[in-house]
Amino acid sequence: MIIAIDGPSASGKGTLGRLLAFRYGFHYLDTGLLYRRVGQKLLCFGHSLTDESLALRAAQELDFVLPDDPALRSREMGNAASIVAAIPCVRAELNDFQRLFSLRKPGTVLDGRDIGTLICPDASVKLFVTASIKVRAFRRFQELREREEEVTQDVVLDDLERRDQCDAVRAVSPLRVAPGATVLDTTTADIDSVLDSAVCVVEAALALDGLRG
Ligand code: DC
Repeated sequence: MIIAIDGPSASGKGTLGRLLAFRYGFHYLDTGLLYRRVGQKLLCFGHSLTDESLALRAAQELDFVLPDDPALRSREMGNAASIVAAIPCVRAELNDFQRLFSLRKPGTVLDGRDIGTLICPDASVKLFVTASIKVRAFRRFQELREREEEVTQDVVLDDLERRDQCDAVRAVSPLRVAPGATVLDTTTADIDSVLDSAVCVVEAALALDGLRG
């Protein structure tokens, strides 16, 4: 079974994805990390984030066993990821790995922006996790503060507005609710109730898969 989760930054999709993967014993992939790593490689070598051929090379040479590097979660890498993620050849280069990953047994959970629309359009479960921009900015602000990044809430809000806009209007794989996806709004819901709602969707899909044999 494939569980595809899409949604904007700091909507709670990563937390939900990890919890679902743990509950069902599935493999989990945070696809945003792939784009963050491409951005990190370019910045490390002092290259421009908009240099398409260097960005493609960074994607081609990506070490898919991603290091557990807290720097990848920084504000700088989030903004860098959003820029390289708009480059069509970078996205194309990363698609095969994500599709192959999605086929691992006994099942997978992938989260990102185009999982239900492009990477795994036939996923048995498609979720779109969202929340108001103010709530998302507050969550991201708290996360960054926990990592001791010096940042204000207004700066985080500006970042998210810019990234939302970039993710929504780019020519390739813009963020969209996939056909058939269940929308989960986490603005006021706590993680337990969001998980309960997601589990209902997964259980219904498992029952359907069982009927189909
Ligand atoms: O989910 P995140 O904040 O780690 O994502 C970082 C950036 O990468 C975000 O601006 C959108 C982009 N991204 C994407 O375009 N497609 C994905 N499947 C995952 C992330």
